[in-house]
Amino acid sequence: MNLTTENIKEALKNVIDPDLKRDIVSLNMVKDIKFNDNSVTVDIQLTTPACPLKDKIKQDCINEIKKAYPNLKDITINISSSVLSKSNTAMKSILPEVKNTVAIASGKGGVGKSTVAVNIAVALSKLGAKVGLIDADIYGPSVPLMLGIKTKPKIFQDTLTGKMMPLETYGIKVISIGFFLDEDAPVIWRGPMASSAIKQFMSDVNWGELDYLIFDLPPGTGDIQLTLVQTIPLTGAVVVTTPQDVALIDVKKAMRMFQRVNVPIFGVIENMSYFIAPDTGKRYDIFGNGGGEKLSKELSVPLLGQIPINPNIREGGDSGKPIVVEEPESEESKKIFEISKNLAAQISINNLVENIPKIEIDLGN
Ligand SMILES: Nc1ncnc2c1ncn2[C@@H]1O[C@H](COP(=O)(O)OP(=O)(O)O)[C@@H](O)[C@H]1O
Ligand SMILES: [Mg+2]
Repeated sequence: MNLTTENIKEALKNVIDPDLKRDIVSLNMVKDIKFNDNSVTVDIQLTTPACPLKDKIKQDCINEIKKAYPNLKDITINISSSVLSKSNTAMKSILPEVKNTVAIASGKGGVGKSTVAVNIAVALSKLGAKVGLIDADIYGPSVPLMLGIKTKPKIFQDTLTGKMMPLETYGIKVISIGFFLDEDAPVIWRGPMASSAIKQFMSDVNWGELDYLIFDLPPGTGDIQLTLVQTIPLTGAVVVTTPQDVALIDVKKAMRMFQRVNVPIFGVIENMSYFIAPDTGKRYDIFGNGGGEKLSKELSVPLLGQIPINPNIREGGDSGKPIVVEEPESEESKKIFEISKNLAAQISINNLVENIPKIEIDLGN
């Protein structure tokens, strides 16, 4: 039997991307099909290298082709990815080569927002994405410390564009307001100053091509935060919380702030959710249980995941070695990788609304 690419595509129409809830053929993910004797090679392009369902999709492709054509000897599925982006004039003009901008926010400080921002940025990069991080927390820039950048770094200028070069570390590009401040000098920021600083971090830095540019926002929901959120052309936001009730009230405020400016919320991350005793393996819900889940249901946003409380996370932050680098196999890191993939999936879903090819509806005769 002489197989055609159409035959294979027909079989692949049964492979559904569970996040995007469409088959991979209509999603335009099947890029190439090649035959050789009794074997077939299919090139599949996913919407993010951090796809949580990469392995499942690959296996489903093999299964469906096998089912339809059991005589095929070899089936090879090559997986690549190209991150989607939603067209947005504001973003195109200020960050032309950046595909997605994501704010990491929290209603209040100390919930682990910067820890989460740094680790997610590094995790996404380790998963194969091009990632940048802007430390926009003007009151407490902690990104330099968390990435081990101790002394005021020398910022180089790109001779061609005259723009600043971001620092590169652990595979990500970084700019922090901390790079430009004297350590002990108090900074009294007014709203407009803060947003003009952040504007410069977008327009005067040579970011190059990025799949995800992450912003560590200052905590809270006051005027300054609102101005910043309006200044940055955001693809969406993530809100970090801890399980206590007080924290959840603050999260609701943060979510309302983003809703006011029409920025979609990709989800909630619950940090310091529980503690696993290293000696017994017993779980302790220090701040109660189920807060993040309750909140995500109430506000109809996904719970991207829960990160346990663990001294290694704090030590990683203090020593400038993010836990996803230092102990990538630990339970905590596994959770952070899972959360990063869930976030990438939510971004793809959000972007797909515009990028999806039109379905041809067969109306018959
Ligand atoms: N899951 C965690 N387990 C243990 N310590 C944590 C965890 N998340 C954050 N921390 C620590 O809590 C402190 C506050 O975190 P940080 O990320 O600076 O919070 P924020 O940016 O919200 O103010 C830091 O010392 C950090 O290392
Ligand atoms: Mg912080």
